[in-house]
Amino acid sequence: MAILITGGAGYIGSHTCIELLNAGYEIICLDNFSNSKSASLNRVAAITGKSFKWYEVDLLDRQGLEKVFIDNEIEAVIHFAGLKAVGESVASPLHYYHNNITGTLILCEMMEKYDVKKLVFSSSATVYGMPDSVPISEDFPMHTTNPYGRTKIMIEEILQDLYVSDISWGICLLRYFNPIGAHESGIIGEDPNGTPNNLMPYITSVASGKRKELQVYGCDYPTADGTGVRDYIHVVDLANGHVKALEKVMSSTGVDAYNLGTGKGNSVLEIIATFEEVTGKRIPYTFAARRPGDVAECYSDPSKAKEELGWVAKRGIKEMCRDAWNWQEKNPDGYKGKDNNNFKNRHLP
Ligand code: NAD
Ligand code: UD1
Repeated sequence: MAILITGGAGYIGSHTCIELLNAGYEIICLDNFSNSKSASLNRVAAITGKSFKWYEVDLLDRQGLEKVFIDNEIEAVIHFAGLKAVGESVASPLHYYHNNITGTLILCEMMEKYDVKKLVFSSSATVYGMPDSVPISEDFPMHTTNPYGRTKIMIEEILQDLYVSDISWGICLLRYFNPIGAHESGIIGEDPNGTPNNLMPYITSVASGKRKELQVYGCDYPTADGTGVRDYIHVVDLANGHVKALEKVMSSTGVDAYNLGTGKGNSVLEIIATFEEVTGKRIPYTFAARRPGDVAECYSDPSKAKEELGWVAKRGIKEMCRDAWNWQEKNPDGYKGKDNNNFKNRHLP
């Protein structure tokens, strides 16, 4: 029996594959590589010393997906596959709704057909939109400002309805706060296409000399130093949260949402200062206007995940900065670098 990981080649998926393999699970990955490279899967195998099957399949390809279910005995699914860039979702909403929502519908239909009713879904803190207060707990109202966020809210609602229709489903909705950092080996990490939108990949690109300076979006927020505050979480802690959520869905039925965050907020200036301290690299920056849609403060109350999943984030922002830089320094061109041949370990279905 195996765990199917959709979007397993991506940033969070690849880190989760490692923790699942280390915990003794058999995994099967599926990805269309629209925002990732198969090299990440080869590296997961190299890090863990374990082999696993992977399929180049798009969730929208019903026949291709069905073959995965026919060929394998799948007992649960961790569903990462989706498009995630907020700005792109505003420019191409139909593409986002089709890929994220139709992809999830086809996946759930296939799961139902093959009697696989255990699902862990990648949701996001974006479902809380502009919260009235912090810390944010799971019972806060859901509203969001962009199509990407709406795909997450809609999918959460679809999965709630699915459970109401058939209470033998076990579903966890994991609302991630701000995942950053990389596996401590520096062998896998985040490899965004083009200019990074998010803070940490932008900082590492400045540290490596690819970009001249960081623009800090807003210095007049009602926060201690005027810059935006977020709940940054180490991607390996986040990956471990999936192992705990998987244990939960495998042993129970129901549908539950969990915040995966540290419960602590850090400002942009604190992240810059910590990055400079642990790496010795200087990050030149200038202040720019607020980014439209940004909130002043966003951090979690992660106590429900602690109580019900037995999960807490262990790593702090120093480890997050250190590991993000370790990955960037060892892989200046991400997965496009020449060293991919060191990780030849292809496992075709
Ligand atoms: P990612 O882009 O690195 O990984 C997503 C993977 O899904 C990619 O490998 C992509 O190729 C694949 N994919 C996309 N559409 C697909 C399809 N139709 N069929 C098959 N594969 C497909 O992103 P990530 O950062 O690892 O995020 C994983 C999930 O977590 C996403 O659903 C994202 O929305 C969610 N999330 C991410 C963050 C974050 O900050 N990274 C925060 C909150 C939620
Ligand atoms: C982003 C996404 C959000 C997603 C979240 C979790 C956007 C608009 N929102 O939010 O949907 O759920 O990631 O991963 O993309 N910053 C700068 N300069 C930069 C980049 C960012 O100052 O070049 C600031 C931002 O204003 C913010 C903080 O850094 O205060 C973090 O930004 P980012 O990494 O983009 O994450 P979020 O804004 O939380």
